[in-house]
Amino acid sequence: MVDYEKLKRDIDRTLGIDLTSYKDQQMRRRINQWIERHRLNSYNQLVDTLKTDPAHRQKFTEYLTINTSNFFRDARVFEVIKSEVLPSISQRNRPRIWSAGASIGAEIYSIAILMNEAKFTPSLLLATDLDEPILEKAKVGEYLSNQVAGTSPEYLAKYFTKKGNDRWVIHESIKENVVFKKHDLLRDSYERNFDLILCRNVFIYFTSETQHRLIANFVDSLKPNGFFIVGSAEQIMDPAKFGLERFSYCIYQKTS
Ligand SMILES: C[S@@+](CC[C@H](N)C(=O)[O-])C[C@H]1O[C@@H](n2cnc3c(N)ncnc32)[C@H](O)[C@@H]1O
Repeated sequence: MVDYEKLKRDIDRTLGIDLTSYKDQQMRRRINQWIERHRLNSYNQLVDTLKTDPAHRQKFTEYLTINTSNFFRDARVFEVIKSEVLPSISQRNRPRIWSAGASIGAEIYSIAILMNEAKFTPSLLLATDLDEPILEKAKVGEYLSNQVAGTSPEYLAKYFTKKGNDRWVIHESIKENVVFKKHDLLRDSYERNFDLILCRNVFIYFTSETQHRLIANFVDSLKPNGFFIVGSAEQIMDPAKFGLERFSYCIYQKTS
């Protein structure tokens, strides 16, 4: 346990990731698995390798931050986004949308596709993540077949170009609408005045105190009646406590 406390401090110094806000048990298990897989002997040897081997550092960061994502993830939520959330915010003045913990960009590009279909251009489509290399991947916009599996054949044909056997590249006309930025949800200040914030499959790794602090920050960042969308395993038990009301499955709305 003492070793793990030291490791958390070393990881913060080396990678800038604050593990004190993440669930200990889950993180420790993942780190131990990594150590075994790479035949390292100790936490100290892991830290030495992170300091001296940039490729190992990048792979470990990706592993630690768990950046799995795919297009139109959770079809039920995207159905409501398409039929109710986007039509509602398209009526507003200069709408702003933020995907927090955006990973490879699949979530924000899915939103951008739906907006293009609805012929609606927001004033900002922001995608942020802690992990810089993953944001670089998002900007390139090249995906494997399993990452686009939830995309309809119609959208695949219209918004992607097939590359080789199993790669799909998103069109520039979609990419150019999105601003990608590095942002640490635990440490950086939050931009404000959003009509829609998606923070899905990011919270689960944080302690419940951290989750509550982050939800309060997101609510502050929303305009009145703004929408807040979480992952299916992250539903908010007492939304009224945060000034939210349940709108639909995984979707909340800020009360005015
Ligand atoms: C599982 S992915 C979720 C991607 C997308 N939102 C989705 O649901 O498909 C989680 C992302 O959260 C990011 N993340 C983890 N901790 C973070 C933090 N403190 N600040 C910002 N992003 C963070 C990770 O880098 C990772 O890309």
